[in-house]
Order: sequence, then C-alpha cells, then structure tokens
Amino acid sequence: MSAATKEIKRLSTKTLINMKAKGEKIAMLTAYDYTFARLVDGAGIDVILVGDSASNVMAGHETTLPITLDQMIYHGASVVRGTSRALVVVDLPFGTYQSDPQGALHSAVRVMKESGAHALKLEGGKEIEESLRCILAAGIPVMGHLGLTPQSIHQFGSFALRAKEEAEAQKLKEDALLLEKLGCFAIVLEKIPAALAEEVAKSVRIPIIGIGAGAGVDGQVLVMQDMLGMNNEFHPKFLRTYANLYEEVHKAVGNYVSDVKSVSFPNAEESY
Ligand code: KIV
Repeated sequence: MSAATKEIKRLSTKTLINMKAKGEKIAMLTAYDYTFARLVDGAGIDVILVGDSASNVMAGHETTLPITLDQMIYHGASVVRGTSRALVVVDLPFGTYQSDPQGALHSAVRVMKESGAHALKLEGGKEIEESLRCILAAGIPVMGHLGLTPQSIHQFGSFALRAKEEAEAQKLKEDALLLEKLGCFAIVLEKIPAALAEEVAKSVRIPIIGIGAGAGVDGQVLVMQDMLGMNNEFHPKFLRTYANLYEEVHKAVGNYVSDVKSVSFPNAEESY
C-alpha cells in the first residue's frame, strides 16, 4: 500500500474539535523521546505534547526558558517517530516567537519541517496576536496556552494559581475568545480556578485542555514523568500519580547492582 492510499488513523485537529462537540474528553500527556512516545501512543493517548517542560524534565533546568529551538526539534522528531495514532504538538520555546511575526513564522516552519510535528503550542494571548496570525496564515495548526504560562515565570514571580483576581480573569476570557477567532484549534489552561476554566470551556467551540484547571474542561494534560511518579519531590495539588516509577526504578537498579557485585548476574543461561 502506498503512502498516499494508506489508511490514516492518526487523530487530527478536526478530530479533537469533533470530540468536544460530542462531549468526549481528550487525554493528553507530554513525551520527549521515542521510547516513551511509543508506549504512550500504544496505550491510546489522544495528543502527545512535546512540551518545553523538556527543559526541566530532560535537561534539569529550573525553568523552561533555556531550551532552544534545535533541542525542541530534536525532541519533537524523536516523538513523531514513535507514534502512529496520536496528534503530536510541539511547544515553540521562549524567545522564538515573541519578538517579530516573521521570526515567529520562521521558527514555526522549522519545527514543522524538521520534526514532522502536526501542530505547535504557543503561550500567550493578545500580546502575541501578530505572530499567531502569521503562523496560522501559513497553514500551521496552533494550540494556545493561557493562565500560568511558564515562559513568563520571572514576570509572575512564582508558580502560584493565576487569574484569581477579576482583571486577570477577564483578560484570560478575552484572550481565549481571541485565540478561537484567530483560528487556534485548542487551548491549554494551566493552574486557574476550576469555575473560570469551565466558563471559558463553555464560551468557545474549540477544546480546552486543563492542567490544574478542574474537571469542567474538555480534556486534561499532565507531564508524563509526574503522573508516572518518577519525581518524588513534586506533589502539587492538581497531580494524580498513576504509578510509582521512582520506587520501581530504585528497586530494579538496586537489585541489578547487587546481582553484579555478587556475580549472580549473568548466570550460565545468560552467557554465550
Ligand atoms: O511544557 C509543558 O509540559 C506544558 C504543559 C504543562 C501544558 O506546557
């Protein structure tokens, strides 16, 4: 079967909009590499986000700011190679789209061409309107991101709940409407009051994916390493852990170390 006639089972941006219309929730997780992308894709995830949280999770930085466009392309391409069903969305990193719209388009085109991703995610509303217009006009699907936008962490001063005050909540509601009007296919809302997130989800046709935004939205996203319990120092209120890989890996590696030291590994069957 040629590539042109092969049945395409992959989710599209349209699929997600239809899922919202039918009231079917969207499950999204981050992944940054081929091996985990294969696992997550095979387990039935709808959307994989190659988040700039790779800066924290993969590289050990305190913030998402240091990660580069080349590094995001490397992670994005690795994830795309590991998937056949999920829609893969790659974050445009800090400093690659906020200054001038032509620069933003150049960054966006590089990620789409060099990683094979299906869509991009950008943080912000009104303040990045011109960059969004340019990228969307080139036919590149965009997921927005409002609320706690980690690329602005130094402006916020902390990772505390956003949009508690009326003025910020009002701006967030206007930004969500603007993103929909510009043509974004979905919006991530991070760490805002559940009632506000639900109100925004009801006000737009495009899916709202929450993280720390309650259950009244159209889907949820978590950082995969957090939900697998790989970081035993990170326990925010919004996080549910579905495994304790920190303990599992410690136990497995500890057993391996002791088997190597005691020469119980490898045994005769494991030798040539
Ligand atoms: O980079 C990331 O992982 C994200 C999610 C937390 C939404 O933006």
